[in-house]
Amino acid sequence: MPDFIEIEDIGSNPAPRETLVEIAERRLSRRGVLAGATAAAAALAAAGPALAEAAGPSSLGFGELSHRLSQRDAVAEGYEIQTVIRWGDPVLADAPPFDPAAQTAAAQAQQFGYNNDYLDFFPLPRGSRASDHGLLVVNHEYTNTNLMFAGLGAGRAAAQKASAEQAAVEQAAHGLSVVEIRRQDGRWAPVRDGRLNRRITATTPMRISGPAAGHDRLKTNADPTGTRVLGTLNNCAGGNTPWDTVLTAEENFNVYFGGAAAETGAQRDHYRRYGIIAQANYAWPRYEPRFDLDREPNEPNRFGWVVEFDPYDPASVPVKRTALGHFKHEACTHAISADGRVVIYMGDDERYEYIYKFVTARPFVAGDAAANRDLLDEGTLYVARFQDDGTLVWLPLVHGEGPLTAANGFASQAHVLIETRRAADLLGATPMDRPEDVEPNPATGRVYAMLTNNGSRTAQRLNAANPRPSNDHGHVVEITPPGAGTGRVDHAAATGRWEIFLLAGKPGVDAGARYHRATSDQGWLSCPDNCAFDKHGRMWIATDGAPAAAGVADGLYAADTSGYGRALPRLFYQAATGAEVCGPCFTPDGETIFLAIQHPGEDPGSSFERPSTRWPDFQEGTPPRPSVIAITRKGGGEIGS
Ligand code: FEO
Ligand code: CA
Ligand code: CA
Repeated sequence: MPDFIEIEDIGSNPAPRETLVEIAERRLSRRGVLAGATAAAAALAAAGPALAEAAGPSSLGFGELSHRLSQRDAVAEGYEIQTVIRWGDPVLADAPPFDPAAQTAAAQAQQFGYNNDYLDFFPLPRGSRASDHGLLVVNHEYTNTNLMFAGLGAGRAAAQKASAEQAAVEQAAHGLSVVEIRRQDGRWAPVRDGRLNRRITATTPMRISGPAAGHDRLKTNADPTGTRVLGTLNNCAGGNTPWDTVLTAEENFNVYFGGAAAETGAQRDHYRRYGIIAQANYAWPRYEPRFDLDREPNEPNRFGWVVEFDPYDPASVPVKRTALGHFKHEACTHAISADGRVVIYMGDDERYEYIYKFVTARPFVAGDAAANRDLLDEGTLYVARFQDDGTLVWLPLVHGEGPLTAANGFASQAHVLIETRRAADLLGATPMDRPEDVEPNPATGRVYAMLTNNGSRTAQRLNAANPRPSNDHGHVVEITPPGAGTGRVDHAAATGRWEIFLLAGKPGVDAGARYHRATSDQGWLSCPDNCAFDKHGRMWIATDGAPAAAGVADGLYAADTSGYGRALPRLFYQAATGAEVCGPCFTPDGETIFLAIQHPGEDPGSSFERPSTRWPDFQEGTPPRPSVIAITRKGGGEIGS
């Protein structure tokens, strides 16, 4: 989500655990951020000189872009950008053409939604490694009311002016799209009548499962069972499972709810911990009782979960997996631990919030759909404590253990999960600088956490893993589980080690910015948000919130994670000013990378009539359209090599 809405920047954690400034300094000076693994460097050298010589110490073979602000996006020389699909394009066979001046909820529910974020590619046929045909799965995180509809004016105030029909359009523009896509003659395009094409929206029926399903605080007038819910909201980052399902993360669910109960209701303290306030960001509570806290105080407890569904079955009912906790969910990326159990890494994206992982109780059984179907309903949720000696402790959120007892008001495991944040507070988790993607590198087993920023962190609130006050540029933390690099990685372990991979910002200008010493004036980045790994284990980092004042747009950077080029980013793709880059996703052959270009034209002063982005062929009445792009190499070949 963008800065001007400032959802993640508000911060709902009232008393983040404080540690000493000296701890951070000691840790930084002892290990350094650029230690670089000697063994890994040797391994890279052994792989041959071609990689290392292609671009100095970096293994990446493209010439980096120069930072600049532009009304057009740009990619490194030798690559090309294609638009795959945009807001309003048809998804279902009967979808009407996009007409921004006369949009209806019925049309929007058949068309591609707004503000695309997480992307995934599921090959077709299922089980293949096809890289020219598959299902593109896309999150639609939120809507910019001011840019979608004419006559509402600028900024956040526009959302309050939406009519009932416009609010319904917004709900239909949330959720996800599943779109069959195919590459023919080098061009990616949607398959118009794709049998598996699907829209999931804010009103799609879903099931609630796991330990909190059926709890009193999940019951509403419309659902006295506490197990059925309409829709998914604010789907930001995501992930998939080894059994080919999608995991989509409900992030800022708080912004849709409002009412006096936020100040006076029985769940007042609970709401406060999740940033639920009297005034919703949207007009929805005026039109629908379920978004009004005074009428349905439990409805917000039914959002803020990880939702699982099968993209290969358009009739499948999505399931909210409560065992994975209740917070502003970000990534839910998986690894299979050495003993076969599945581990899901997750972030809670808000200032001073935490990093979590979930470990299934049972192992994944390849090929046994019945055994894997509800694997995410049983297991243990852990929250991370980053200790100053470089060790990491995963603290279990288990009812009856430690402080998670009746003495602290926890009556059951369901209760612990519904109040995940409070439980994590009591365990002494480490408050982070807005954890977004947390993703394992399949090549090494190390796990990387993108920490977008935290401009409000004070010197008194530093901790070793978040070592900078006023952290406007964010950083990346590297987690090393036991066995990383050996092929038998114990992702399920209760401990690990951690290291800072890079501290973002401009070296020599922004205090504490640190990368590989060969990082160029163009390679420094700000606000790391989403990431992906190519098959060589190189990290591709998408940014959200780069400082336009410094002449930098959001973009996609690539960096080695091992060897001589470790933590040496290079700028590969640059978005048009005002847009955020999300959802980097490679095809299995590594020859296409898809990117979600979110909120083009967004600016506090922008409106439908006056978007801040006016590209050269801008036409009145045609708002900027969030889109998914594909980047390929001219003449073919692997991205980045
Ligand atoms: Fe939706 Fe955490 O950005
Ligand atoms: Ca984001
Ligand atoms: Ca973020």
